Amino acid sequence: MKEKSKKFKYFTYIRSKFDYIMKKILVTGGTGFIGSHTVVELINAGYEVVIADNLSNSKTGSLEGIEQITGVKAPFERVDLCDKVAFEALLKKHRSINAVIHFAAFKAVGESVEQPLKYYHNNLTSLINLLDLMPQYGIENIVFSSSCTVYGQPEQLPVTEQSPIQPATSPYGQTKQISETIIRDVVAASDRIKSIALRYFNPIGAHASALIGELPVGTPNNLMPFITQTAIGIREQLNVFGNDYNTPDGSCIRDYIHVVDLAKAHVTAVSRLMENRNKKPFEIFNLGTGTGVSVLELITTFEKVTGVKLNYRIVGRRAGDTEQVWADTSFANNELGWKTLSTLEETLLSAWNWEKRINNNG
Ligand code: UFG
Repeated sequence: MKEKSKKFKYFTYIRSKFDYIMKKILVTGGTGFIGSHTVVELINAGYEVVIADNLSNSKTGSLEGIEQITGVKAPFERVDLCDKVAFEALLKKHRSINAVIHFAAFKAVGESVEQPLKYYHNNLTSLINLLDLMPQYGIENIVFSSSCTVYGQPEQLPVTEQSPIQPATSPYGQTKQISETIIRDVVAASDRIKSIALRYFNPIGAHASALIGELPVGTPNNLMPFITQTAIGIREQLNVFGNDYNTPDGSCIRDYIHVVDLAKAHVTAVSRLMENRNKKPFEIFNLGTGTGVSVLELITTFEKVTGVKLNYRIVGRRAGDTEQVWADTSFANNELGWKTLSTLEETLLSAWNWEKRINNNG
C-alpha cells in the first residue's frame, strides 16, 4: 500500500511536470484554413492540441495533412459549439486545457447579408457558450479570430489598432465587432480571464508541403482561391471587381498575409497569455504584412511566379467592398516580437502548389 502511494505520488509529480511543459490548447475551427495551419505551428512549438470543428465548412482531409506534416495525430472532436451540452462533454473529456484559440465561425460576407440570423446565431452563440464554460473548466486564456473588417474604410492608412471602428457593412463584420465587445466585457468582469483578439488582414497561401491549404466549398468568394481555380481551369474566368477606385491602378488594395506567418502569430499570442506576458487583460493586434497590394498587382505577380496566364476581365464593383486597407504592424512587431517572413511571391507560389496538388496536377 505504502509502495503504491509512493508510486502514485511520483506519477502525480511527473504528470504535473508534464502538464507544465505540455500546455494543452483547444483549437475551435481547427480543420479550417487558418485553424489547420495554426494547429501545425502549435504542434511544432511543442503544444498539445485538441481540435474541435463541426466540419460545416471544412473536411477531415486537413487532419491527415496535419498528421503527415507533424507526425502527430491530434485528437479531433466533431462538435457544434452552439450545442452547449456537446461542447461541455468535450471539455469534460479533454481536461486541463490551458487556452483556447477560437476560429470557429461563419465567414462569407455575402451570405451573411442574405442570412443574417445564421451568422448572429452561429458566431455569437458559440462564443458565448465558450466564455460561459471556460471558468468552470479552469480555462483562463482565449485568443480570438477577429478581422480588419472592423475598421471599414479607414480615414488614415496604414491602419493602427487605435483607428476608429466603423459601422459594420455586413452581419458577418457585425459579429466580429460584437464578439470583440463581448470578450472585452467578460474580461473586464473577470479577474482570471485574459484574451488577445487578432485582427487579420487577408490570409492567403498554403503550407510549404502543400498538404494543407484553403479548400473553399463551392464557388470561392475570395480572390486568392478564385485566382488559383481559374489558373487550373476549374473556373473559366476571373472577374476583377472594379478598376475605377481611387488607387494607382484603379483596383482595390488589400494586405495579403501568408497563412503560415499568420498561424505563427497565434503561437506567439497564446504563449503570451499562458505565460502572463500580456500587458493588459484584453489586447488587440493587427496581423498583416504592412504592405498594400492591388488586385491587378496580385494577378500580375501570380502570373509572373507561376508562368500561368490568367483569363480575367474587369467588371463592375462588388457591393460593400472597401477601397483600400493595409495594416500598421508595428504594435504586433514590437509587442509580440512577431513579423511576417514570406514574400508575396512565395505566398502566391504556395497557394498555386496547393491548388495543383489537390487537383493531382503537380
Ligand atoms: N475580388 C475580385 N474578384 C473576385 C474576388 C475578389 O476582384 O473574384 C477582389 C475584391 O473586390 C477585393 C479583393 O479582391 O477588392 C479581395 O477580396 P476578398 O473577397 O478576397 O477579400 P476581402 O478583403 O473582401 O474580405 C476578406 C475576408 C473577409 C473579411 C475581410 C476584411 O474574406 O472575411 O477580408 O477582413 F471580412
